[in-house]
Order: sequence, then structure tokens, then C-alpha cells
Amino acid sequence: MNKKTISFIRGLKGKRKITMLTCYDYSMARIFDNTDLDIVLVGDSVGNVFSGYETTLPVTIDEIIYHTKAVKRGCKNQLIVSDMPFMSYQISINDAINNAGRLMKEGLCDAVKLEGGEEIALIVEKLVKAGIPVMGHIGLQPQSVHAMGGYKVIGKKEDEVKRLVNNAKILEESGAFAIVLELVKKDVAKEITNSINIPTIGIGSGPYCDGQVLVINDMLGLNPENFKHNKKYLNLYSDIENAVNNYIKDVIDVKFPSDENSF
Ligand code: KIV
Repeated sequence: MNKKTISFIRGLKGKRKITMLTCYDYSMARIFDNTDLDIVLVGDSVGNVFSGYETTLPVTIDEIIYHTKAVKRGCKNQLIVSDMPFMSYQISINDAINNAGRLMKEGLCDAVKLEGGEEIALIVEKLVKAGIPVMGHIGLQPQSVHAMGGYKVIGKKEDEVKRLVNNAKILEESGAFAIVLELVKKDVAKEITNSINIPTIGIGSGPYCDGQVLVINDMLGLNPENFKHNKKYLNLYSDIENAVNNYIKDVIDVKFPSDENSF
């Protein structure tokens, strides 16, 4: 398998759908590496599903670097994109370049992802000029959950639609190589996808995006919650619960370890 590159991903627009999943650790990364998955996202959703925070806001650049290093050791073939956490790029351009540079130098990711549109255009431009590929992220921006008034579908009002389309065009002009559309109404996602030349990757944004992304813990059913945008391909929450209960029973009943497991 050849290592997937930015130009390979860009070239998929209009040819076939792009596949992306989040990943936070080496064991999962090794499994992904044996598949045809295109992009692995070391998402700041690590804050929710790994650390148990209510939002992604507390995630630090050091935490994302730590998880990126682990993923990089397991994933040789996929394009690795790492999220820039809240307040790692908003304060100043210097801060943004310094933190994105650390993610590339220490984490060894291939690109970074930033949330926002027009307001981060200059940052995107500077990062791209510094040789750091950037993936955009508009629609629901979890890092702005408090400012946006909660986790909700975006693109229901006309002014929202105009802003979304405009922000997608600005991100493309600033040099972003792809854009995540989160919880955008499907027809709006279609309009955005048709109005730019770089791929859109949707989560909860319908079938017309150029690609799809899901949080790995959600698609494996590691979380008991059900989200409308998600499809559970496994039910690991109950499978693991059953396995742990079986282990407890085996140990108490002295069925484990058996002769087979003993030296
Ligand atoms: O952090 C994350 O998992 C993400 C996805 C929702 C795209 O940004």
C-alpha cells in the first residue's frame, strides 16, 4: 500500500468518496493501517471519549502531540491529520505557527485541522506558507460550543447558509486542502461541496459531501449513547461489559487461568 498524500486526497474529489476516522492510540492505528482508510484524524474529540471531558475545550497541545505520536507509530499508510486544540491558534499567528510546527515536528502528523472560517483565514494562509497543510472545519465547531449556544444543526437559516458557503470559499482561497462540515443540513453541504474545488468531509452532514468522518468510539459502539449522525458497526460497550463479567466469573469460579494458561 502507498502512503496517502495531500495531493492524492485532493485528487479524489469527484472520483470516489474519501474515508476518515478518528484515532487516538497505537493499537487502533495498527488495525487502521491494514485497511484502505484514507485519513486518520487525531481529533480533539479525544477530550470527550478518552479523557471524559464534557467538551473539547480542555484538550492541550501536549495531549494532542502525545496521541499523534502513538497513532503515527501504528499508521504508516494513511494521511494523519491532527487537531489544533482550543486556544492553540487563536491568540496570535506566532502561537499558531509554533503549535502547528510542534504537532508536525514532534507528533509527525502530515497536516493540522483548525475550526473556523473567515476569522482564521490569515492563520490558515500563514500556516500553508510555512509548509503546514491545513484542513478546515466549519458548521458546528465544538470548540465554540458555548458561543454557538450548544451542539446543533447548522444551515437552517438563510444567513447561516450564506456564511457557510462564503467561509468554505475563503478557506479554499487561504490554501486549505479539505474542509470538515459538521452537522450541516444535507442540501447546504451539497451546495458547499459543489461550490469549491477542494474536498468536503462530512459528519452529520448527509451523503453529498466528498467524504465522511466518524468518531471511532461512536462507530464501534464503545459509547452507550446513540447519536442520529452515527452508525454503530459494532456494539463494543455491551460486548466488553459481558467479557469483563465473564472474566470476573471465571476468576471467582477458578476457571481462569486453566492449565492452558499456566506454566
Ligand atoms: O475531533 C473530532 O473528532 C473532529 C470530528 C468531529 C471531525 O473534529
